[in-house]
Amino acid sequence: MHNYKELQSLFETNLEKEIAATNSRQPKYLYEPVAYTLQTGGKRIRPVLLLMAYELYDSKFEKAMPAAFAIEMFHNFTLLHDDIMDDANLRRNNPTVHVKYSNNTAILSGDAMSILSYEYLNSTESKNYREIFDIFTKTALKICEGQQFDMDFENQKEVTVDEYLKMIGMKTAVLIAASLKIGALTANASRQEADLLYDFGYNLGMAFQLRDDYLDSFGNTSSFGKKIGGDIIANKKTYLMLKALELANNNLKEQLNSFMENPPANRDEKITKVLSIYEQLDVARLTSDKMEEYYQKALLCWENLNVLNNQKQELLLIANKMMNRTN
Ligand code: IPE
Ligand code: IPE
Ligand code: MG
Ligand code: MG
Ligand code: MG
Repeated sequence: MHNYKELQSLFETNLEKEIAATNSRQPKYLYEPVAYTLQTGGKRIRPVLLLMAYELYDSKFEKAMPAAFAIEMFHNFTLLHDDIMDDANLRRNNPTVHVKYSNNTAILSGDAMSILSYEYLNSTESKNYREIFDIFTKTALKICEGQQFDMDFENQKEVTVDEYLKMIGMKTAVLIAASLKIGALTANASRQEADLLYDFGYNLGMAFQLRDDYLDSFGNTSSFGKKIGGDIIANKKTYLMLKALELANNNLKEQLNSFMENPPANRDEKITKVLSIYEQLDVARLTSDKMEEYYQKALLCWENLNVLNNQKQELLLIANKMMNRTN
């Protein structure tokens, strides 16, 4: 059983070869942005979770490597398109693909990455392959659905917390859940175990996106690697914004709505003013409370996993890392 750091490094070593091969493919401006994206790093949380779930039930983790590539490739594909949709210029402290190259490049290289992810998945050798393929496909479509809701909500005045939670479930939590379940199924774990890992991952994924929303407002650009306040500028209905709208008095509510209805004269001023309303209403604390709620739900699933305690301990360490992350 490897720990997070070890699995991350094993994954990186294997991925490097794939990146080099991709980088030498033609046409250059289709594949170079793919290599660029994968080279800029990231936490590799999903493939590590997949490999770790595999290792709970079987020691030959190499067998899960193609599926781990597939998940990371798919995740990175969503980021290329997401950054166009969110008008984000910075990711992992590097210019985003649509800024470094062009929108058209980010669209097409993104498409290629989505297809490449299926190519990787298809090298998975498992008697559960059909089911794995099915989970991967359903998850991919759910992410599109979540992303559309995320964009719809930018222009929707009334969004409920429930609607928000469903949306982040689709855009983020299902991929983290699927990573764990696919790892377990590749290792031939029982249905019950695979489902428990899915639920563990789903709840963890919810906390993960809540943390992402929090960091987008209160993080530090150099460690987070993305521009702080991007969600505020895009009028995202994050948990922070929804709670602020709920708790604001008439005056503050009017200010928030006016910020969202009118194009800002000065973007930085909009960010500063909205952040100060967030601070007045203490929505950061409420976001942490909600995260904790999901963490506790994840913990209940984790406790029921039928593997030795010291084996599943590493999984909990990752969960804790995800809860406290600053990047
Ligand atoms: C970013 O995911 C997109 C979200 C679901 C919040 P990560 O925070 O896992 O991004 P990287 O891969 O580590 O950069
Ligand atoms: C992430 O949502 C969801 C997907 C990329 C599918 P965000 O838009 O919050 O992710 P970041 O903050 O840009 O990484
Ligand atoms: Mg985004
Ligand atoms: Mg987005
Ligand atoms: Mg975000």
